[in-house]
Amino acid sequence: MTAHSVDELMDLLHACRGAWDTPDRSGDPVDLHDHALQTAALLRRRRPADKELQVAGLLHDLGHLLRPGDDAGHADTAADAVRALLGERVARLVQLHVPAKRYLAAAEPGRGLSPRSDLTLGVQGGPMTAEEMAAFVRDPDADDALMLRQADDEGKVVGLDAGELEDWRPVLEHLVAARAGAAR
Ligand SMILES: [Fe+2]
Ligand SMILES: [Fe+2]
Repeated sequence: MTAHSVDELMDLLHACRGAWDTPDRSGDPVDLHDHALQTAALLRRRRPADKELQVAGLLHDLGHLLRPGDDAGHADTAADAVRALLGERVARLVQLHVPAKRYLAAAEPGRGLSPRSDLTLGVQGGPMTAEEMAAFVRDPDADDALMLRQADDEGKVVGLDAGELEDWRPVLEHLVAARAGAAR
């Protein structure tokens, strides 16, 4: 699935209200809507200037909405959905949220994951091997991907108000317009 407009992306995000990372709700305790807003808000606080990173945080789990139950593929699904509109860096950061989890699971084995994230780590490939870790840190987006993952893991607080989805519409529009301007 490819999103062709900001309206389409916003519709997908609004559809995350009451949608969950697991169809039977056995997973994380916040819905995909709250998780998206919390993740993006944490990144906005930590990297105020990096709108692409914030938006990647907002969109990183759309794969759970687009293909329910596909834990192993959900990051790629979301990256494919946003690439045409928001560009390669946003898509890469979205895609890397699972490899970043695998990296951190190897680098910091005692680091807490939510029970659901811990469970799905297996189907996502488990902790990285030393070789995979070496390749991961050579990626120019690795640091940003780790920052996104940190916010991802923290952005699961039941009842925490992280703002309004509509506040992100102008940010998405700005990024799309900036890309169109750069391509001209
Ligand atoms: Fe995810
Ligand atoms: Fe997530």
